[in-house]
Amino acid sequence: MDFRNRDVVSIKDFSKSEMDYILRYAKKMIPYARGERHADVMHGKILASLFFEPSTRTRLSFECAMNRLGGRVIGFADPGATSQRKGESLADTIRMADAYSDIIVIRHPQEGSARLAAEFAASPILNAGDGAGRHPTQCLLDMFTIVMEKKRIKGNRIVLLGDLKYGRTVHSLAYALSLFGAELVFVSPESLRMPKEVIEECREFGVDPVSTSNLERAIRDADVLYVTRIQKERFPDAAEYNRVVGTYRIDADLLRHAREDLIIMHPLPRVTEIDPEVDKTPHAVYFKQAFNGVPVRMALLSLIAGGRKI
Ligand code: NCD
Repeated sequence: MDFRNRDVVSIKDFSKSEMDYILRYAKKMIPYARGERHADVMHGKILASLFFEPSTRTRLSFECAMNRLGGRVIGFADPGATSQRKGESLADTIRMADAYSDIIVIRHPQEGSARLAAEFAASPILNAGDGAGRHPTQCLLDMFTIVMEKKRIKGNRIVLLGDLKYGRTVHSLAYALSLFGAELVFVSPESLRMPKEVIEECREFGVDPVSTSNLERAIRDADVLYVTRIQKERFPDAAEYNRVVGTYRIDADLLRHAREDLIIMHPLPRVTEIDPEVDKTPHAVYFKQAFNGVPVRMALLSLIAGGRKI
């Protein structure tokens, strides 16, 4: 299996066996991600971390991953401090990052921006979220979390809840979970349903997701509940956002309907959709999930830009 110098624009860039391989390799990275063991496989390499949109976990876990592997990081978290402010094009900014680094991570509000970046850069491009499009590395860490918590993905009943229209994490995840043979239930407000093309992708793998707005019913026989935030920044109209905000919330009362071994995931940040009292229940795995971004991104960085040395 050869990952060297490959772009990761969409989760579809990987086959099922490649995803399996990355997840297994990520498991080996855990002690390195925790700082218990030390690796130097990215020594002499530079990661360009280009964040045109806000980020906490994705940016910091990528940067942490590169540092843990002995590499170095350049970049920005605020495009307002770059020549974009002077009117520079995305293509030219990418050309510069390409000249100054060995691998580029990009998050950008425009769908398709990572694909465009891949056209202008010789170095590999990792898509860290392109608008309401895709978020492949989040998908891998979500898959990794399910495997760590539930041993396997196949056969699990997984509820994707919330803003399925604008949420890029669920677009990538629905595809990958279908490929691995999970059962899918989509729960969302009527106006934020999963896009048709994502449902079509699931059907290609023989998975026929159930769409409903009845969360209480859906939660009863779920193995995994994947909660998402309403993506306020993607709404063309504030009135439309106000209509859906606060329409679902996970709290102790709702969880009385859940199975004991239900796990609750969330890509974070959460706003109002999970009551903080849920944090102390055994259902909550979202903070572990956020940590899992480090070993998964270490695995990816080292396979793509460093070669497998661990
Ligand atoms: C998500 C994102 O940016 O798409 N966050 C993340 O990467 N962990 C989800 C969100 O912002 O709601």
